[in-house]
Amino acid sequence: MRLNTLPRAGLAVTPTPLQPLPNLTEHLGGPTILVKRDDLTGLAFGGNKARKLDYLMGDALQKKADIIVTGAGFHSNWCTQTAAACCKLGLPLILVKSGPQDGYDPDQWDGNHLLHHLYGADITILKEGSGQRRQEITDELRAQGRNPYLMPVGGSTPLGAAGYVHCMLELLTQAVDQTTEITHLYHATGSGGTQTGLALGAKALNTGIKVVGVSTGFGDSARRIENLLRLSHETAEFLEIETRLTEADINVLDQYSEGYGYATEAKTEAIKLLAEKEGLLIDPVYTATAMAALIDDARTGKLTEDDTAVFLHTGGTAALFPYRDTLKAHTQGKPLPWKIPQWNPDYTG
Ligand SMILES: Cc1ncc(COP(=O)(O)O)c(C=O)c1O
Repeated sequence: MRLNTLPRAGLAVTPTPLQPLPNLTEHLGGPTILVKRDDLTGLAFGGNKARKLDYLMGDALQKKADIIVTGAGFHSNWCTQTAAACCKLGLPLILVKSGPQDGYDPDQWDGNHLLHHLYGADITILKEGSGQRRQEITDELRAQGRNPYLMPVGGSTPLGAAGYVHCMLELLTQAVDQTTEITHLYHATGSGGTQTGLALGAKALNTGIKVVGVSTGFGDSARRIENLLRLSHETAEFLEIETRLTEADINVLDQYSEGYGYATEAKTEAIKLLAEKEGLLIDPVYTATAMAALIDDARTGKLTEDDTAVFLHTGGTAALFPYRDTLKAHTQGKPLPWKIPQWNPDYTG
């Protein structure tokens, strides 16, 4: 495996802790539940992108990039962590983001959008065509004699996925140290690099861990599985891993997100439960979706007391604040005031 010879930028603080969640375990009364704290990876408010950026920025530095171009959704965690990485490494950043739709107040700086400004990124917001614009900007910079590095949305390339093969190796070491047999790992899945790396690592290292990616609402699951398989083959080849994933290794649950960033009762309940039982903060877009699935599987007996399930906390907690009115309503026992936030591309005003 080539993992140890790839250049890294030294951005991610690892290993992240593997901790028990005893109160949640007792409350649900089924599986033993642990948390892998990738919200403590040390870039911005932490999160999964730090592991990907370690390898992606290592590559950018090796290629002597002098500017980074990327983007994603309006409140993107990827953009936040990339912006933090750029500041640490002294590289300028151009962000081309998608959304918001009608009804948006451009002066409403909040959550990740506020952080993108604090990190001094050059920000453009487009309702459509942001991917094409990123490519055009990269070409224009190159024509001007600059050396831009275009990072794909979410960093889900073989280099980015390498960060999560590495995470699986780390998790296995921790399981050995703690003499724990992990049966399941639940995490939020979006652009797919996290799941690809984890599932490939789990199989290649013969861990026996079932990696369960909980969809946060990007497209249909058949297309998602196809993309994950393709990325996993590219990653295996790139890392010189002989193992290949098949469809049976890709577990995707897509019933816990009604749409990307949509507010649901199950997600707000998961946020409140984790806060009250464990003092742990999770976010309404990604990690609460994964936790809602884990809670449901524990309540419905899909996970039993013979199981040990790890919840991978992939960060994203800056998103708590833009959802303040929905979280306030849940806390006060009132109906959620909206389902689709106005910065979501599905929002129609
Ligand atoms: C907090 C958080 N968790 C999980 C994910 C999903 O990771 P991936 O894009 O690798 O599927 C993201 C992606 O943006 C994220 O921001």
